[in-house]
Amino acid sequence: MAEAKKLFIKTYGCQMNVYDSERMADALGASGYVTTAQPEDADMILLNTCHIREKAAEKVYSELGRLKPLKAANPDLKIGVAGCVAQAEGEEIMRRQPLVDLVVGPQTYHRLPEMEAIIRKGARAVDTDFPEEDKFDHLPRGPRAMRGPTAFLTVQEGCDKFCAFCVVPYTRGAEVSRPVDRILTEARDLVERGVREITLLGQNVNAYHGMGDGGAWTLARLIRALAKVDGLERIRFTTSHPNDMEDDLIAAHGDEPKLMPYLHLPVQSGSDRILKAMNRKHTAESYLRLIERLRAARPDLLLSGDFIVGFPGETEADFDDTMALVRAVHYGQAYSFKYSARPGTPAAERANVPDDVASDRLHRLQALLTEQQRATQDAMVGREVSVLFEKPGRLPGQLIGKSEYLHAVHVHAPDDQIGKIARVRVTASVTNSLAADLL
Ligand code: 5AD
Ligand code: SF4
Repeated sequence: MAEAKKLFIKTYGCQMNVYDSERMADALGASGYVTTAQPEDADMILLNTCHIREKAAEKVYSELGRLKPLKAANPDLKIGVAGCVAQAEGEEIMRRQPLVDLVVGPQTYHRLPEMEAIIRKGARAVDTDFPEEDKFDHLPRGPRAMRGPTAFLTVQEGCDKFCAFCVVPYTRGAEVSRPVDRILTEARDLVERGVREITLLGQNVNAYHGMGDGGAWTLARLIRALAKVDGLERIRFTTSHPNDMEDDLIAAHGDEPKLMPYLHLPVQSGSDRILKAMNRKHTAESYLRLIERLRAARPDLLLSGDFIVGFPGETEADFDDTMALVRAVHYGQAYSFKYSARPGTPAAERANVPDDVASDRLHRLQALLTEQQRATQDAMVGREVSVLFEKPGRLPGQLIGKSEYLHAVHVHAPDDQIGKIARVRVTASVTNSLAADLL
């Protein structure tokens, strides 16, 4: 048998890209590739790129430049660009960087084996279609060793919300939900490989409306069906828009024990004026009411969010409103960004807030969010939580896993506990994790 060709994938950006990279590896597995962690050994290098913020395309071009010596050392090395920068830049990548053999957008990964055959013959291949067929129907799950007891599963892709700052509706395309039966089959398959926790992914996952028995299902209904899969112990989902947080999904947080008490619910800003300019179609007040309802359903819910500071037109008073909203919610976890103008989005045409002002606001916001995150983690000390063990920890005899609230937890426990869930008592809160003892 011919020796397997080696594939190195570098993944940037969101969890959906992590999922996509695995599926690309599976697709190319059918063409005889196995993955390697060493770019120097690779017969093919794929950069799975992200376009969400900051000079993304420029970063990809400089990363490609750094691959030049590898291509010089191995002229048979094939180099490809996948993901949202590939979608946004298309042919331009080929023009600017002659060493690139392949450009593939997020909706055509199932065509990688054909594209690989083309580039092996020395031609170049570009595919940034939004095809009719569903790529997931054509993407195999490789017969590969399991990657631990947690997995991502894409259930919805794309977005029709058109927030004024965001490229996702342009790079990932219109919102599409996968059918229920495919998701259930994929979930059962993952569980058979030892997966105990699944995170349902979508750019707008709570707008899920895939076809199932009797018509379109909501995300809540899908979660309840997944909860019946034997062996699947934990369900999470990300990322959500406040306007799609329907009653049944709120209720599921209270009455579906397998749905974990952690919710990423971005608000972006606490100023109604800025929310309107962002085309978010909700107010700070409506978001706060929603949080109240979620906490009424699940009092220990840990909330996570995304924030943008320095959006065009943001004044100090607008920023104060964001700080006030953060104080009102008290986040256990959050991501905050300085606004970055994305070409082709409506906000890119508007005048930017001066960079030093935006940086100063970002520092103040991050100080507050870090303080809340710290306080939330510290408050876990003394509590009983359950941990799904994922891998060995740094110290011998120690395992690391995640609590229901997604905190990393170190516990002294035997190796055979990996992939299992145990009750533990939290004994200490350190920089980025908790320490706990088995009960
Ligand atoms: N500038 C800064 N942050 C952005 N995000 C999306 N687009 C931009 C942009 N142009 C942030 C939002 C979103 C997260 C995934 O990235 O907060 O929720
Ligand atoms: Fe982008 Fe999310 Fe807004 Fe969609 S809802 S446009 S993905 S920020």
